[in-house]
Amino acid sequence: MRTVADVDVEDRRVLVRVDFNVPLEGGQVTDDTRIRAALPTLELLRERGARTVLVSHLGRPKDREPELSMRPAADRLAELTGADVTLAPGVVGPDVEAFAGNLQPGDVLMLENVRFEPGETANDPDFARGLAALADVYVNDAFGAAHRAHASTEAVAHEVDVAVAGLLLAREVETLTRLLESPQRPLVAVLGGAKVSDKIGVIDRFLQTADTILVGGAMCFPFLHALGHDTGNSLCADEDLEPARTALNAADRSDCRLELPSDLILGDRFAADARYRELDGLDVPAGWMGLDVGRRTVERYRAAIAGAGTVFWNGPMGAFELDPFAAGTRAIAEAVAEAPGATVVGGGDSAAALQRFGLADRVTHLSTGGGAALEFIEGRTLPGVEALR
Ligand code: 3PG
Repeated sequence: MRTVADVDVEDRRVLVRVDFNVPLEGGQVTDDTRIRAALPTLELLRERGARTVLVSHLGRPKDREPELSMRPAADRLAELTGADVTLAPGVVGPDVEAFAGNLQPGDVLMLENVRFEPGETANDPDFARGLAALADVYVNDAFGAAHRAHASTEAVAHEVDVAVAGLLLAREVETLTRLLESPQRPLVAVLGGAKVSDKIGVIDRFLQTADTILVGGAMCFPFLHALGHDTGNSLCADEDLEPARTALNAADRSDCRLELPSDLILGDRFAADARYRELDGLDVPAGWMGLDVGRRTVERYRAAIAGAGTVFWNGPMGAFELDPFAAGTRAIAEAVAEAPGATVVGGGDSAAALQRFGLADRVTHLSTGGGAALEFIEGRTLPGVEALR
């Protein structure tokens, strides 16, 4: 794919869609991974003398809530780069155009939260033309938002003469494409999280392309229920039973092994101070719920990860935010960090788990896109990527 490195940006105004949808607490950025991930593109633009205009969403504003201003992200970017990052008074319109018009080569302007404008999520061409009026070149580096057909990720690409990928977006697409099309084998997919229905497309795809799928998290209970086990009070939504049965049937016809836990850690409720116990088996007694995978499961999954040519991991193995139920996810995070093969981690909760255990820099590729990475793996078209082709 054509990237920002392939176009002449000197002295030109470059509109860069970034995904600075970062967690905030008390007006401070608490995890700047996504801002850091955009630095290679932003540094290249400054080195090459571009006049850079950044645009991102933050949260899902209903109105122009001041707490969803881009100010903290702009300040964090300024700290990381040493550059002055000016925050524009809005997203589009004459005032913002005046700010963009005054930029000098190497300067950086950050627009306000693009979702303050209703035209953004409506993918409105008029609003997209307002964004395009700010720049000569459009760069999409927001892989985390590439599954959204919004004005700043999709429509704007059709309103400028030059629309290319940023370095981060290109690396994400290349890494996930390699994972699906030419992975070092064996390819082991570790899938956890709460709901089978959220991951069914990914399970389907890996049943066709992977050698082994290791299932953990509350997502294992619809599978265990379908196999006739008691699930007690474990999370096991009715709507997840059919997708679990379908996946088990597809696994029977596939060369890929679909592996489920063989033991569990139970709690009497979902709380850090819950009573807990190990269960050497899979029939959860009444009054208990499965909140983590057990030790034998961890050993089996660790061995599969250690023997993999490529590992993809998305979704925690249990309620890792509660200390008594964090061991399974921690062990898998460590196994992924130590694996000799290539390791690709989908964003969202598994990225948060790696951060929590201090292992985020120990994987080959930590995706900045949760939903976007999963949709890409499912084989769905990402509007933000498609618009650049
Ligand atoms: C994310 O955090 O997954 C992306 O920034 C997309 O955000 P959204 O789900 O609000 O569109």
